[in-house]
Amino acid sequence: MIPEPTALATFALAGGDFRLRRAVEADVGPIVGMMARDQLRSSVDSDAPERRAPYVAAFHAIDADPAHLLCVVDDAAGSVVATMQLTLLPGLARGGASRLQIEAVRVAGRLRGNGLGTAMMEWAVAEGRRRGAALIQLTSDLSRYDAHRFYGRLGFAHSHAGFKMVL
Ligand SMILES: CC(C)(COP(=O)(O)OP(=O)(O)OC[C@H]1O[C@@H](n2cnc3c(N)ncnc32)[C@H](O)[C@@H]1OP(=O)(O)O)[C@@H](O)C(=O)NCCC(=O)NCCS
Repeated sequence: MIPEPTALATFALAGGDFRLRRAVEADVGPIVGMMARDQLRSSVDSDAPERRAPYVAAFHAIDADPAHLLCVVDDAAGSVVATMQLTLLPGLARGGASRLQIEAVRVAGRLRGNGLGTAMMEWAVAEGRRRGAALIQLTSDLSRYDAHRFYGRLGFAHSHAGFKMVL
């Protein structure tokens, strides 16, 4: 029998009960499915089974490194409905402070606007503190106005300009 993955947090919200846990390989398909349905990434990501191999390889690279925590959230029926990736980055700046980087935050379309993203991010902030991070950073595409409002309300300051180069 496959053991039940340990819950890192549970959320009782108006939209139902949810469980946040570390992702396992079987979650790769649902996670990539959420990315593929994202309006900005639908041309890049695909959850087609024949394209699964590089995502599974990336999952194992993440999972093998204790600096990373790939999270998923299950609904009461056990379906994966949200994800985010946390990474603790050591650094010399700010007196040798570590920072928590948050990447790839997604809540399934049908559940957006019900408080699940807020619950996940509040947990991530507490987890960053618990791991000794002195700050949390993330980037968000400039076109994601709704997400910018979301992060602003959570207390993130729009204090830096992000630069990226696609290779
Ligand atoms: C951004 C996101 C993670 C927030 O999760 P959520 O569970 O919807 O958020 P909450 O219900 O806790 O908070 C509501 C806020 O989220 C944002 N939000 C709601 N629906 C959204 C949507 N479809 N797309 C983007 N942001 C949304 C809004 O700021 C909303 O506040 P509002 O009521 O003032 O409009 C989620 O909506 C999502 O996955 N959006 C699409 C992908 C994305 O933009 N991810 C962030 C990448 S940096």
